[in-house]
Formats: sequence, structure tokens, C-alpha cells
Amino acid sequence: MNIKAAIIGMGYIGVSHLEAIRRIGFADIVAVADTNYALAKKKAEEYSIAKCYESVDDLLADPEITVVHNCTPNYIHTEINKKILKAGKHLFTEKPLATSFAETRGLIELKESKPELVAAVNFNYRMNPLVQEMKSKIQRQEIGKPYLIHGSYLQDWLLYDTDYNWRLEPEISGPSRCIADIGSHWMDMAQHITDSKITEVCADLVTVIPIRKKPTSQVETFSLNKSAEYEEKEIVTEDYGAVMFKMENGVSGVFHVSEVSAGRGCFFNIEVDGSKASMYWNQESCDQLWMGFREDDNRLIMRNPNHISAKAGEYTYLAKGHPEGWNDAFRNNIYSVYTYIAEGKKLSSDTPDFATLEEAAYILKLTEAILESSKTRSWIKIKD
Ligand SMILES: NC(=O)c1ccc[n+]([C@@H]2O[C@H](COP(=O)([O-])OP(=O)(O)OC[C@H]3O[C@@H](n4cnc5c(N)ncnc54)[C@H](O)[C@@H]3O)[C@@H](O)[C@H]2O)c1
Repeated sequence: MNIKAAIIGMGYIGVSHLEAIRRIGFADIVAVADTNYALAKKKAEEYSIAKCYESVDDLLADPEITVVHNCTPNYIHTEINKKILKAGKHLFTEKPLATSFAETRGLIELKESKPELVAAVNFNYRMNPLVQEMKSKIQRQEIGKPYLIHGSYLQDWLLYDTDYNWRLEPEISGPSRCIADIGSHWMDMAQHITDSKITEVCADLVTVIPIRKKPTSQVETFSLNKSAEYEEKEIVTEDYGAVMFKMENGVSGVFHVSEVSAGRGCFFNIEVDGSKASMYWNQESCDQLWMGFREDDNRLIMRNPNHISAKAGEYTYLAKGHPEGWNDAFRNNIYSVYTYIAEGKKLSSDTPDFATLEEAAYILKLTEAILESSKTRSWIKIKD
């Protein structure tokens, strides 16, 4: 089967999708679209993509396309995701799934009415081979009974008041910024590797920089703002968030996220402490897994396809000593979705490794509970 893919939204992450699709042996990228047509055209030419559409509707009317990646800003995810499913195409959407949990209901109902389609959400970090290895080690009880889970996701790209991007505007990004944008990845990973849900949260969210200088011209994601012309904007979403939580399996946890921590780019780390051992993984050194013991020497495991569990082995392909990184985990997530489609699997009967709409909707439920908790200064239980 040769999958024919298209991408809507050719900004920062759209290009990562494009390059990752090109690495899948049984897929072609046949079309792109962006409201910034000049950008879409430039990328289509640069990457020799045959078709470039000005509108989402025109792209979705193309019968050659079977899978559509939605790489647009958060506020428009639901509208475009619904159109993709209605057009009878498999859906691969960026996170957060929507800007509110309520929005996700209609999308999930629509998906349920189309069981022949596959829908996936890009929680790509879970597809690092050593993250899959952590999951396997927990399942095989190598660390004993998990007691605690903790970590952080820190960045510095919004450190200065002159840093600006659409993510700072709740009308585009949603009511949460740091938690929805990067905390969502952390929560997905915590739930994925433990096979358990976060059920209660207590949070403190802080807007460190309450007034920012918005450039009068557009600034690309993660690029430095060099504009001299700006207007002052009040910021209402969080630059920092700390969250304590409880999981349904009895594990207690805590994580914090920041977009204003100097020197941090993608400092995404997670530690699980069990009754026999601890495990620690950090995205910035993602080819290594640390294991800690009380009665034995601690170990630093370097990823080695010959000594990894069979499950994690599905997501590693380079020999030891050849580091696999962010791009590889990203490719693995797309590979997982495309393989699932190619094998004709159905979400109703086969639990996938990639994140489903339901899982991503639950992350939004958690995000909303975190916002409420910080506002009311109290623990919030997640309602069914
Ligand atoms: N999974 C990850 O690791 C990861 C990393 C970065 C971004 N993201 C997610 O990807 C999404 C996009 O983020 P980004 O940083 O690439 O943003 P971006 O601003 O760089 O790119 C978004 C693109 O979408 C286009 N666009 C906007 N509205 C559109 C519409 N209605 N139809 C077609 N195109 C439209 C814009 O012109 C722009 O080119 C966000 O939801 C973000 O959370 C995920």
C-alpha cells in the first residue's frame, strides 16, 4: 500500500511532518496547503511536492489524498479536523487537540460514525525508543511497584518581553499556554508509560511577564524577534506551571513547565521511582536511560537495539553509538500511524501505540482542571 499524504499548515512543525513522511518507505507527500499561500508554494517548490492548494476545501476534494496532517494553530484544529474526517481522509492532527474539552465531543462523535478511518494526535515524544523501553520496564515490573513520577519540560523561547508568537494570544492558542503546549506532552508521556490516568490535580500557574511587546510584523515560531516596531499587549496565559497530581494506579506525581528558563530548549525529563529501582530519561540526551538502585551500582543505559525489549525495538533502527533523536521519534510516530493504516487495523478493536482522539481529549480535560485548580487554589478531581 502506498499512502498518499497531504499537510495543512506549512509553518514550523509542518516542515517536520513533511520530512518525516519522506522517511516512510510506503508513503508519498502529494500536496500541501496554507492560508499563507506564498509560504506553501515556496515549501512545495523547495521539496518538489506536486500540488499546492490555496484552500483547505480544495485540498480535501483531491481524491488522490488518503491521509491529512493538520499542522495549523490550535483554535482552528477542530474545524479542520472535522472537515478532514467528513472528506473521508485519515486524520493526523497536531496537539493540543482543541482549545477546550467541550469542542472535542463533536469530533469524537464524528470519528465514531466513520470506523473505517484512523485518527491520531501527534504526541511524538512517546515514540522515543527509550521511552517505549521505560513503558516495557514498568510492564515487566523491572522497577517494582511504581510509587512516584516527576519531571519537567523547560524552554526559554519566551524569556524576554520582546519574544512574541500567536501562542501568547488565547483567541488563537486557547486559555492555557504552557500547560496546553508542552505540559500536554509531559502528561501524555506520564500516562502512556504507566498505563494509568491522572485523576486529580493541584496547580500553580504564573504569568511571569504580564506585558509583552508585540511586533507589528509576524514572528515565526521559535525565531528571535528583531522588530523595532511593537505594541504593548497584556498577557493572560501562564509562562510557568507547577502541577501536583494523583494517578488511578495510586502513583503520586509532580511536574513543572516553563517557557522562560534561560538555556533550556527542549528540557523534557521524566523519572519514575519504583519499589526496586528508579528510571530517568531526558529528551536532551534521549539516547540514554538512567537507572538507579539502592543495593547496586546505578546504570546509564545507552540505547542498543540488541538489548532493548521487542516492543521498544519496533521504534529503533540505528546501531548502538549512532544517536537517535527528536526527528527519529517524530518519524516513529508517523510510522506507527501509517503502519496501522496500511495493515487495515481498526481503532475499535486494536489499541494503537500512537495517541488517539480520546486520549488527547482527556489531556484537555486535565488542562482545564489545572486551570481551575490554580484559580481556586485547590485540588480538583477529574470528572467522568
Ligand atoms: N508535536 C510537536 O512537537 C509540536 C511542535 C510545534 C508545534 N506543534 C503544534 O503544531 C501546530 C502549529 O504550530 P507551529 O509552531 O507550526 O505554528 P506556525 O505558526 O509556525 O505554523 C502554522 C501554519 O498554519 C498556517 N495556517 C493558519 N491558519 C490556517 C488555516 N485556516 N488553513 C491553513 N493553514 C493555516 C499558518 O499560515 C502557518 O503557516 C500547533 O497546534 C502546535 O501546538 C507541535
